[in-house]
Amino acid sequence: MTAPCNPKRIVALASGLALAAYVPTAWAAASAANIAKHGAGSPVPACMSCHGAAGEGNAAAGFPRLAGLPAGYVAAQLRAFAQGTRGNSLMSPIAKAMSDAQITAVANYYAKLPKPAQTYGPMPAAAQAALGERLAERGDWSSGIPSCFRCHGPGGIGVSADFPPIVGQPASYIESQIKAWKDGSRHNDPVGLMHTVALRMSDAATQSVAAWLAAERLGEAARSDKATH
Ligand code: HEC
Ligand code: HEC
Repeated sequence: MTAPCNPKRIVALASGLALAAYVPTAWAAASAANIAKHGAGSPVPACMSCHGAAGEGNAAAGFPRLAGLPAGYVAAQLRAFAQGTRGNSLMSPIAKAMSDAQITAVANYYAKLPKPAQTYGPMPAAAQAALGERLAERGDWSSGIPSCFRCHGPGGIGVSADFPPIVGQPASYIESQIKAWKDGSRHNDPVGLMHTVALRMSDAATQSVAAWLAAERLGEAARSDKATH
């Protein structure tokens, strides 16, 4: 057994105490990275296995990007999956099994990952692209659809934690969310803002805007303040 006055042990104890000051943030970051890479027990598989090694999502499967999303938005979505105001058979059991501290830590972890430069789908044919671009930038007032960028920011890059980015997401994911607001399986949005928009969107409008947004590059979209105002 090590004697209590062993100098090596005292040094170890002292440096342990000095480190203790950093423990809350350092612990949270380390455990969040661990959850992302390895999961946290059987109900919480590694986030990476679906959301990609760098949180870039999976365009083919329609799994959303998490890298660079606002921490407040990610945490709110995990709580919505846990509470059932957003229904999804894959995410609900995972979110239910996570503690509040794990949710906060993982949300901060993903918010700090760099935004991917990739696109999430091919540019659709000209007519569909033109309809998608028009809806995103100007909306369609005859159907009562406001421009997406009015709420989601110029280029669709998001505004605060309340209006998430809509560029840098797979087309099938964007479509599935608009459908989820229509059928009520996602009803976590403040004062039904997206529900109201979604109800007015035809399948053709949904597909066009989703395909156009997915083909826009995050970096380019950020610069495309160009918009035809
Ligand atoms: C088995 C695959 C799978 C795993 C593992 C997984 N997810 Fe998901 N995740 C999904 C799917 C599918 C969606 C889209 C759900 C929907 O359509 O509403 C999603 C959506 C999300 C969203 C909402 C994103 C947005 O833009 O609104 C967050 C946040 C999220 N997941 C976080 C996590 C975290 C954190 C982990 C790890 C603890 C994780 N996911 C593990 C499949 C998975
Ligand atoms: C009146 C404001 C408003 C307008 C206009 C609007 N949105 Fe949204 N949108 C929101 C809000 C608020 C949320 C976040 C809901 C939440 O907190 O879950 C959202 C979320 C989304 C999401 C989910 C993103 C994710 O990561 O899960 C998609 C996709 C989306 N909007 C697409 C669109 C499209 C496409 C348009 C244009 C046709 C549009 N929105 C127009 C307010 C708006």
